[in-house]
Amino acid sequence: MADGVNTIGVLTSGGDAPGMNAAIRAVVRKAIANGKKVKGITKGYNGLLNEEIIDMQASDVSDIIQRGGTILKTARCEEFKTKEGQERGAEVCRKHGIDGLVVIGGDGSYRGAQKLAALGINTIGVPGTIDLDIACTEYTIGFDTAVNTAMQAIDKVRDTSTSHERCSIIEVMGRNAGYIALWCGIANGAENILLPEKYEFNEQEIINNIIANRKRGKKHHIIINAEGIGHSTSMARRIEAATGVETRATILGYMQRGGSPTCKDRVYASMMGAYSADLLCSGKSNRVVGYMKGGYVDFDIDEALAMQKGIDEYQFEVSRQLSI
Ligand code: ADP
Ligand code: F6P
Repeated sequence: MADGVNTIGVLTSGGDAPGMNAAIRAVVRKAIANGKKVKGITKGYNGLLNEEIIDMQASDVSDIIQRGGTILKTARCEEFKTKEGQERGAEVCRKHGIDGLVVIGGDGSYRGAQKLAALGINTIGVPGTIDLDIACTEYTIGFDTAVNTAMQAIDKVRDTSTSHERCSIIEVMGRNAGYIALWCGIANGAENILLPEKYEFNEQEIINNIIANRKRGKKHHIIINAEGIGHSTSMARRIEAATGVETRATILGYMQRGGSPTCKDRVYASMMGAYSADLLCSGKSNRVVGYMKGGYVDFDIDEALAMQKGIDEYQFEVSRQLSI
């Protein structure tokens, strides 16, 4: 392996995601195994600008693989979107001897990483977001835990919904993407699944569906609504008025981002974190790690950010056919 960098920095940025700790642990331990020094930067790019930087040893990441959240904390940082902020970030890296940086976050965080790479700091992005909305990878750290958490919560709402013979609208996270909604919709056997990528705002179709299901004797009606569509509470009021079926809205919210990561999140995060440290050690920069067709891969950040990702048509078709 080529020498690459001397000191690897690691930070988490954007919304936290279960499994980020496993990724941090892997970056730290793989870098140390490769003979590098490691520094942790707290609170994302904010912490970088404020020089909140700590030395990290292998023991600093013990007992964290099973914990949700991120021990490095995370933040959003408007200042880092400016040229001055980015230049200062690169300067701080140089001041602290950080010549390689792993950024664990979503595609917003990748844009920051891209800017740092252009300013001479070797930078690698690792996909950490519950939303699964990064085009260059089939997997993002946190998604599996989030959908399992949401699925279990929706099962509980379904119990009470059936007892009361109500309709339930359950809103799940995902920003502008519908992956969490689609997966929960299938896993929870929802009668309607509303995705920002596909929903045509045809509420009458949902109303007709509820009325037809009641006539067939169905005791519950679960609608999974993606955050990107939103307005679940007002939708519930309109649906109740139009169908005469008591309708309640539940917004699952931040519980979806917490909790102990699943086995899948721990393992993918460990592999991706380790892979990012190896990329830096082999002299690579301006790359992002992904998982595609059964293997860990990396792409140029510019190319990765230009890629597009949509809802799989077959999965969507099946979800509709099963939700009757
Ligand atoms: P995520 O990484 O989960 O997509 P955000 O989009 O909020 O979350 O981005 C996280 C942070 O990344 C932002 O608060 C900002 O500091 C940085 N960032 C986002 N976009 C840019 C950009 N165009 N240039 C530089 N930094 C950016
Ligand atoms: O990106 C993860 C996510 O939880 C999205 O699903 C949601 O839209 C957003 O973060 C919420 O962000 P914040 O923590 O800033 O409210």
